[in-house]
Amino acid sequence: MEHFAIIQALCRAAMADASPAVRKQVERLRDALLKDGESKHAATLTGLLTTADRTKEISPSRIERSKSQILGEALTRNAPIPVDRETAAALAEVIFPADIQPSAPLFNATVSQAIGTIIDEWANFEALSEIDIRPSKTCLIYGAPGTGKTRLALWIAQQLDLPVVLVKLDGLVSSFLGTTARNIGNLFAFANRHRCVLLLDEFDAIAKVRDDPQEVGEIKRVVNALLQNLDVRRDVGFTIGITNHPKLLDSAVWRRFEVQLEIPKPDFEMRKAIAAHFMPPVKAPDSHLRLIAWFTEGSTGAEIESLVRTYKKATTVRDEDKRGLLDTLRQFATLNAARVQSERRALLFDDPANLFRAMRNDPILDFSMTDIGEIAGKDKSTVSRQLGRQVGRSTDEVSNG
Ligand SMILES: Nc1ncnc2c1ncn2[C@@H]1O[C@H](COP(=O)(O)OP(=O)(O)OP(=O)(O)O)[C@@H](O)[C@H]1O
Ligand SMILES: [Mg+2]
Repeated sequence: MEHFAIIQALCRAAMADASPAVRKQVERLRDALLKDGESKHAATLTGLLTTADRTKEISPSRIERSKSQILGEALTRNAPIPVDRETAAALAEVIFPADIQPSAPLFNATVSQAIGTIIDEWANFEALSEIDIRPSKTCLIYGAPGTGKTRLALWIAQQLDLPVVLVKLDGLVSSFLGTTARNIGNLFAFANRHRCVLLLDEFDAIAKVRDDPQEVGEIKRVVNALLQNLDVRRDVGFTIGITNHPKLLDSAVWRRFEVQLEIPKPDFEMRKAIAAHFMPPVKAPDSHLRLIAWFTEGSTGAEIESLVRTYKKATTVRDEDKRGLLDTLRQFATLNAARVQSERRALLFDDPANLFRAMRNDPILDFSMTDIGEIAGKDKSTVSRQLGRQVGRSTDEVSNG
C-alpha cells in the first residue's frame, strides 16, 4: 500500500493522546486493511493500539500529577467542618468530586479554551514549575447571575479530582461582623490543611455590606482579614472566587486573583446547544431548538434551562393537555417579561401569520415552510396557504390605502 509509512506516523501521533473517536477511526482503518488482505499493515496498527493502551495504564493520569502538587491531608467525609462558635452554623460545605455533575457547562469557543488552559495549567503544575513557570492558583470568575459560574467552578474541581470547600459569602458575612476575624481564620486554616479547591462564592457580598455606614470599620477589618488569608493561601492551594458584580469588588481584592475569567451570556448557537443539553430524554426537532434559542436572546443558561423544563412538561402530559412550543414560549414571555426582547414578545401574541412571516424572514432562524409547520403543528401546505392569504391581504390593504 502506497504511503503507508505516513499513515502509520499519523496514527501514532494521533494515538499519543487519543479521544475515543480517534481510536475508533484507527480501528476502522485497521479492519478495512484486514478486509483488503493487507494483514501486515493491519497488524502494525493493532500494535499501535495495544501500545497506546499500555502507556495509558502506566503513565499516571494528568489528575494524579496535579494532586501531588497540592499539599495537605486528604479531605474525607467525616472531617469536622468549622462552625461559627455562637450559632454553631457550618461555615462551609464540602462537595466531593463524585457528587458533582460530570457534564461540562457549555460556553463559546473562546471561554472554553480559556477554561481548558486553566485546567491544563493546574494539571501540569509540576512540569511548568520545572521550567520556572509558576502556574496561577487563584481564579476569579465573574458574569451575570445564572450564567453557570458556580457550576463551572465545581466542574473544574471535578476535573482536577479535588473536593470543594464551598463558602457562600452572602450567607456568612453577617457572621463575620461583630465576631472577631476568627471565623475567616478558621475557614482558611481548614482549607489550607486539606487538599481541596477553596470556592468563595458570592464574593460581592463583602462589597455590599461595605456601603452600610454603620459597618464601615467592621467590614474593613473583614476585608483585610480576607486579603491576608488569600495571600497566605496563594502558596498553598487553589482558590476560585465568584462574583456577579465585579465592579463592586475592591481593587485590592481584584488584584489577588491572577486569572480573571468573564462568563458572557450565551449567543444564539450556545443557547441552542444549552437547550439541546437539557432536552433529553425528550426529543425536540431542530426547528424547536432554534426557536427557543431565538426567543431567549439575552437570557442566561439558567433561564433556558427553566424554559426547557416547561417545554418538557408540556410535551409529556396527556394528549388533551399537551401544549405546543408557541404556548410554552408565550408562558415564558409572560413570566419573564423583562427578559424577552419586546419586539419578539409582541410577535408571539400577534396574528400567527405575522409571527410565521417574521420567522421565515429572520436571517438567523432561516426557517423553511416545513420548519414553520413543525412549530405550528400544521402541515407545510396549510402554513403556506395561511401565509399566502395574509400576504395577499396586506397587498390589498396597501393597494386600497
Ligand atoms: N452555560 C451553561 N451551560 C450549562 N448549564 C448552564 C449554563 N449556564 C447556566 N446553566 C444552568 O443554570 C443553572 C444555574 O447555574 P449556576 O448556579 O452555575 O449560575 P451562576 O452563574 O452561579 O448564578 P448566580 O450568579 O445566580 O449564582 C444550573 O442549573 C446550570 O446547570
Ligand atoms: Mg452561583
